[in-house]
Amino acid sequence: MTGDPATRDDASAEIIDGKAVGEDIVASVRAQTEALRAASNVTPGLAVVLVGADPASQVYVRNKSVKAEACGFKSEQHTMPADMSEADLLDLVGRLNADPSIHGILVQLPLPDHIDETRVLRAIDPRKDVDGFHPINVGLLSTGALEEALVPCTPAGCHLLLKRRFGADLSGRNALVIGRSNIVGKPMAQLLLSESCTVTVAHSRTRDLPALCRSMDIVVAAVGRPEMVRGDWIGPGAVAIDVGINRIDAPEKGPGKARLVGDVCFDEAVGHAAAITPVPGGIGPMTIAMLMANTLTAACRAAGVDDPRF
Ligand code: GUN
Repeated sequence: MTGDPATRDDASAEIIDGKAVGEDIVASVRAQTEALRAASNVTPGLAVVLVGADPASQVYVRNKSVKAEACGFKSEQHTMPADMSEADLLDLVGRLNADPSIHGILVQLPLPDHIDETRVLRAIDPRKDVDGFHPINVGLLSTGALEEALVPCTPAGCHLLLKRRFGADLSGRNALVIGRSNIVGKPMAQLLLSESCTVTVAHSRTRDLPALCRSMDIVVAAVGRPEMVRGDWIGPGAVAIDVGINRIDAPEKGPGKARLVGDVCFDEAVGHAAAITPVPGGIGPMTIAMLMANTLTAACRAAGVDDPRF
């Protein structure tokens, strides 16, 4: 990413290339994995658990396993029948918790209705919880103990892009997080707070969101509503981070065709923002890269060496 918004002379936003940054992170994970192996004889291990045969989940899980192998990790995929019992899944999680060659455990969501998602996520050893969903990790993040926490991958990816865009110091910036989910909105707000941003969290009951948005230096949109954030909501000089991945009909591409759009109307916002992440090619590739980063972090901590740096 290049270009200081203060000196740009065009009216078009810098497009933040999450794919390139994600590849850079993965290359760094691979190099630091090699260094860990040389120094401590430890190979990071990632176990991904898929229950059932949801086609989208199958693709996500395969991508995670392929990326883990590209990082030089030990990679395990456990594909279980949709009718497996909750007790059997808890048993599997228990075995992975006890396996010293596994440093990261990811149970792909959603789980079938007969399985209590919360119970399963809480059964994962927090030190191996590379999704960062366990209440221990939520608590560590919210108390600012980032050196101990595992942080959810999507907000961690947004955070890293913002740091690269603005440099190390985000302090004092006005940041708006649109969406209050446990997976993105809340941890994103915590990360921005830990950077001493002034943070506002907007949601479905927020009044006059467009005006609120216009006063911000940073807008992170994570609501899952296609193109909800219009271009003129983004103030000049602001950075828009678009977490949404929404599939919408695209009759212009042919009958029955679809395309992906974010929560921000990209075509409009590109004429307003200083910088913006596209969809696809923005936050999506960062999420999987941060999963690899979290797995390496968990392995380094288990080996008693310093956290990797990104
Ligand atoms: N399903 C969709 N996104 C995710 C994710 O980030 N983690 C897990 N475990 N399941 C998901």
